[in-house]
Formats: sequence, C-alpha cells, structure tokens
Amino acid sequence: MPDTPSPDPAAAGRDAALLADEARYCSFGDTVHYADPPKVFARCEGSWLHDDAGTPFLDLQMWYSAVNFGYANPRLNDALKRQVDTLPQLASQYLHATKVELAKTIALDARRKWGRDGRVHFNVGGSQSVEDSLKLVRNASGGRSLVFAFEGGYHGRTLGASAITSSYRYRRRYGHFDRAMFIEFPYHFRASKGSGPKGMTKEEYGEHCVAKFERLFETEYNGVWDPKAGQCEYAAFYVEPIQGTGGYVIPPPNFFTGLKRVLDRYGVLLVVDEIQMGFFRTGKLWAIEHFGVTPDVLVFGKALTNGLNPLAGIWAREELINPTVFPPGSTHSTFASNPLGTAVGLETMRMLAETDYASMVAAKGAHFLEGLRDLQKRHPEIGDVDGLGLALRAEICEADGFTPNRRLLDRMVDLGLAGELEHGGRRMGLVLDVGGYHKNVITLAPSLHITTREIDLGLALLDQLLTKARRSL
Ligand SMILES: Cc1ncc(COP(=O)(O)O)c(C=O)c1O
Repeated sequence: MPDTPSPDPAAAGRDAALLADEARYCSFGDTVHYADPPKVFARCEGSWLHDDAGTPFLDLQMWYSAVNFGYANPRLNDALKRQVDTLPQLASQYLHATKVELAKTIALDARRKWGRDGRVHFNVGGSQSVEDSLKLVRNASGGRSLVFAFEGGYHGRTLGASAITSSYRYRRRYGHFDRAMFIEFPYHFRASKGSGPKGMTKEEYGEHCVAKFERLFETEYNGVWDPKAGQCEYAAFYVEPIQGTGGYVIPPPNFFTGLKRVLDRYGVLLVVDEIQMGFFRTGKLWAIEHFGVTPDVLVFGKALTNGLNPLAGIWAREELINPTVFPPGSTHSTFASNPLGTAVGLETMRMLAETDYASMVAAKGAHFLEGLRDLQKRHPEIGDVDGLGLALRAEICEADGFTPNRRLLDRMVDLGLAGELEHGGRRMGLVLDVGGYHKNVITLAPSLHITTREIDLGLALLDQLLTKARRSL
C-alpha cells in the first residue's frame, strides 16, 4: 500500500491549466467524462493510480478490465521494452515470430478445450475485431447480414458494433448498418422483483428466456425462420457470457446450454464477445468456459496486452475462417498484429500458463464477494451483489433495495475521485466504474493481482463512501 505524501499546492494549478486546454483543443466525442471536472492522474502501479499531488487511489475497475494484471506489471512491461529494442515496427504484410506464436497458442488452447481446429485473426481494438467478426459471419452465411444480440449488450462504438449494441443512444445521431434483434438476457434480480415473471428461480428464469427466444422459430409468421428453406434470416447470435457494460449480470448456469441447443437446431452461429470478460477476469481464460458451450467465433481484446500496445482479435472455427472461404485481405488495418502488441500478448499467454490464475482468482473473488455480502447487510441501498471470479457487481438502489439510485452512485464515484477518504490515518481515493441498464451498478473489475489486504481496504472504503454519499444528498 503506497504512502500518502503531503499535498502539492502547485498540482491544482497544473490540473486547471490542463482542463482549460482540453476544453479548447480536444474533441469530447471520443470519451465520456463521468466526473466533472474529470480527474487527472499522473502515475500508476499495481492496483493504484496516483494524481499529480501524489494522492493514491485504489482502482477497482482497472481501465474497464483492460489491465487485469496490474498497472505497470514488470513482466509484461519488460516484454514490451524488449520488443521496442528489437523489432518495434513491422508492416502487417511481413511476418514476425510473436504474431504466429500468439495465434498458435490461442488456437491450440481452443482445440484442447473444444476439440475444434481454428485460426486467429488480429486487429487493433475490440470494436474493430467485432467488425471483422461481422464480416466473417456474413461471409460464412451467404451474405446474411442480420444477427441477434442481447438487451443490455455492448459490443463497441464503430458503426457495425453499435448496430448490435442494444442502446439506441449510441445510434441515434449516426444511423446503423442492420440493427440487431435484441433478445432478453436473464437478468434475474431485476426481472424477479420488477416487470418479469414472479416466483421463478434463476434457473427457471433462464429456461423461460430460452423458451421465449425459441418461440420466434415456431412458424414463419414469427418473423425469423423460413421452414421451407430451413433457414433463419439471422446469421448469428452475439453474446457476452457475462454482461459487461450492462452491469456484470451473470446468467444462470443452464442458460447458454439451452440457448446453444436452439441455435444449433436452426443453424445460427454463436459469437462470444470476451473482450471484457476474457483473460481470467472470471477465473477462466474465457468466461464462456463456465457455461459448457462451444463458440463458433470468439472475439477478444483489452487485457491481452494488459492495456499496453493495443491488440485484439478473433478466433473462429476452421470452416469459417480458412483462407479459401475468408480470403487474404478480407480485413486489414495498418496496425493489425503490430509486433509490440503481439509480443506482450504472447508474454501474457505464457504468464497465464505458468501461474494458477484459476485458483487465485476464484479465491480472491470469493473473499471479495463475501465482503460485499457483509456490506449489503449494513447498507439497505445495496440491492444486489453477485460475482464470478473477480467480475463483481453491487447494485445501488433506494432504501427499498430495488429502485435504481443512480444519483447516489454518481455521488459515490465523485467522492471516491475527490481523494478525501481516510484509512489508517492516510488520505486516499477510490476509483469505481458505473454500469448497468439503469447506470446504478458498481461494476468491480480489480486487478487479478490485488492482495487480500487491498480487497479488505476496498471494502472499507466502499463502506465509508456509501455512508458519506448518503449523508451528502
Ligand atoms: C464486451 C465488449 N465488447 C466490445 C467492446 C469494444 O472494445 P473497444 O473499446 O476496445 O473497441 C467492449 C469495450 O468495453 C466490451 O466491453
């Protein structure tokens, strides 16, 4: 745990000048500042961000799960530095060892787990890889361009990716290419106490959602299925195994097996978006491994490089992606398979193979979840807590434990970023991310290397923050 230095009086002035320049020279279209004014940070290490004045902030969101292995992870930083000193740049038309080795590592892992041959295709970011997967799916299904996706799903903000992301807000100004049909995701907490069917267990509700989806295939008049041709108008179903931006909603364990049965019956591909939940966030390399189904296409990004040089990509079954059906140049970006990204990605995969992340993440996740449950007992505003590995949620509500309370959570975020919390006589801050259909969920994605002491500290700070925020409203 870092020490808190005495405040630097000049820091406030430097931040003010930076914010004035931002207001004058930066587009605001490429980000959203959730806090007003936005917080300026100067340094990072492990689970901690430090502002210009030297105040430490415990980060419980880690760049939306892009920095799973801790800020400035020495092993991954060294891999980047080594690559900078050897082959930092190379056009994608030429080969370098780390690209091929990384693709091979991911493909062999998939073969071991799912008994399927496949290939890996790189691009720079998550949204770009989602775009690539849309091309792959359209191509493999004879040009069918429609797909299913979930209510509450998030797949990125390029035009294609926002067409399959459920929020109309992301499409309102810009239109879309073939908006997805959005299907209900089994969000049991909200459905069971709100507008959904009452009295169902989580599993029953999962089955209910599958049956509701399958009803679309009952006759041609339900709108998606031509029984004479035996073809669905929708080529694929895009899923996040656990909804990320949607609020870390964890489906019942039987849900995806039920869904996959329907997809197989009607020839619809399963595309699994692991961009946020991949790389052991949930205690397995891919979150879908918890649910016993095999993807046709898998999209990954974020934590592959621990937030260093961007790299993302897709794995797909051989039949969908072999060069005869998906020919050279089907997609291309100058920076796809950039050597700095692939070198770090390969080192990440080696690190994952050498360390028992499965047990480590499961143990830390269980400890964190137990602490959240304890917190829930003392704060009626925490309506729901849940977690799988170190993907955890706490839903902030009114005192009835159900009505979403976005105002209270926004206040918590602002107070966390003010850096005026105290623990053991030290001043510090807390970095939280907000997600959920009602923007009232703390989506907790701490570093997988977080210590038990830091988890306990995080829980104590959350406790303090909730009390402080409630009093201040
Ligand atoms: C599940 C999921 N898919 C896709 C994306 C888009 O990835 P990127 O922001 O790298 O374009 C994100 C980003 O948050 C995500 O969480």
